[in-house]
Amino acid sequence: MPRRALWITLLAGLPLLLAVIAFVLSRDTYQPYGTRLLNIRPVEANQFSLTAHDGSTKSLSDFRGKVVLIFFGFVNCPDVCPTTLLELAKVYKALTPPEQARVQVLLISVDPERDTKEKLRDYVTFFAPTFLGLTGTPEQIAQVAKKYGVFYQKSQIKSATEYNVDHTATVFALDPKGQLRLVYGNGKVAETARVVEDVRWLLRN
Ligand code: NI
Repeated sequence: MPRRALWITLLAGLPLLLAVIAFVLSRDTYQPYGTRLLNIRPVEANQFSLTAHDGSTKSLSDFRGKVVLIFFGFVNCPDVCPTTLLELAKVYKALTPPEQARVQVLLISVDPERDTKEKLRDYVTFFAPTFLGLTGTPEQIAQVAKKYGVFYQKSQIKSATEYNVDHTATVFALDPKGQLRLVYGNGKVAETARVVEDVRWLLRN
């Protein structure tokens, strides 16, 4: 082969070679610990508009650019809620301050009748000052819970103000675009280091 033809062949192949290298480098081989949702639904399906514990109205779009961790629960929950919030606080505290600035933990009340803004504020900020409690009318809460496939129901009813609420204990992880990407079943967020890696992955993706 004449030397010139050889050079032309090499140069013509160069863009392809660079494309292959770029593809290999960008390929994400991370396997999340949380259960991954392969069919990502439209962001609209995750939307909500609720009252935050500071009295402001908050929708999912207010947290754009942040990884949002959502848990449905209530202040008087005897075990699952405090445990989960404590575990989420461990995850949050394991992040660097710049990462923390891009992570929002939300507790959506499934007991809007008893969970006032003040009660929610005192409760969630005990775990971490930036955690945010959200509540609304029973109808609003029911709507949001339905969107996330969350079930809740009063149980052990002793009086109008004395009862328990059984509820789904899933933690939902949304990426900075507001897409629901990972879910953690009851107790799964106890693996702090692995959830931290998932959050970092969501921050990158
Ligand atoms: Ni609970």
